[in-house]
Amino acid sequence: MRHLMSPLDFSVQELDKLMDIAEDIEKNQEKYAHMCDGKILATCFYEPSTRTRLSFESAMLHLGGQVLGFASADSSSAAKGESVSDTIRIISCYADICAMRHPKEGAPMVAASKSTIPVINAGDGGHQHPTQTLTDLMTIRSLKGQLNNMTIGLCGDLKFGRTVHSLINALKRYNGINFVFISPEELKIPDYIRSDILDKNNIPYKEVIKLEDVMPELDILYMTRVQRERFFNEEDYVRLKDFYILTKDKMELAKKDMMVLHPLPRVNEISVEVDEDPRAVYFKQVQYGMYIRMALILTLLELV
Ligand code: NCD
Repeated sequence: MRHLMSPLDFSVQELDKLMDIAEDIEKNQEKYAHMCDGKILATCFYEPSTRTRLSFESAMLHLGGQVLGFASADSSSAAKGESVSDTIRIISCYADICAMRHPKEGAPMVAASKSTIPVINAGDGGHQHPTQTLTDLMTIRSLKGQLNNMTIGLCGDLKFGRTVHSLINALKRYNGINFVFISPEELKIPDYIRSDILDKNNIPYKEVIKLEDVMPELDILYMTRVQRERFFNEEDYVRLKDFYILTKDKMELAKKDMMVLHPLPRVNEISVEVDEDPRAVYFKQVQYGMYIRMALILTLLELV
């Protein structure tokens, strides 16, 4: 039995296969409509979510399966003090697969160690968010045709943003990847990413503060929200929240085929006028997120 805790749990070949399945699902949805008949997905979300939880649920429903779960810690027995280890033992009796989001780093891993069904990490604190990364990889591969030889700018909250940490971790295995980290001083990538992932693998990167300075060199711009819920004080959040706002004017500095991704939700960091630009692909990214989660459920349930 396999779980998904980090994008590295799959080899590059396995990721390719997963994306191939997701592409096939996009083209032939009806072929997959009953593959999970009789199967149940549990979504255990101890932290707010719209996209991730609903896209897991929609993925399972599109496969013919059913869903149950809870959308906040308050509405589960966690509010009575039940541990994640106990909860997953219970869920294992009710469902065939579980997607779990938790504010504590490593909580889904603890659950996986006690679980008799596959557990998917749907985001753990500021740590990892592997299914968002699968979504991002699939978006880039589908729209750019490949995952090699690219300059990728990551902009915003690189300190607390788990989508950023997971994506860097996944992209380190591709060739010719060049990172540009765009953030205020206070929200730079954590040291462990710099030393354990980038330096260790000789991956070229630079860190800058101004987005305009690097816009012309980027093939991908990955915008992120400042992670308010992980700040220690509101003052810092308020000072930093509007540090970057991507506007039409800034888009004019970019390559004609640059693509803007965002894991969403967006707050102010991308002005709505940019939505009309064909290079803004964040809503398309959401669609890919459902297909790749369908492929993931089928793979972990060993149905493909
Ligand atoms: C992200 C997350 O939860 O980390 N959202 C998502 O799942 N698409 C990004 C965010 O909340 O900023």
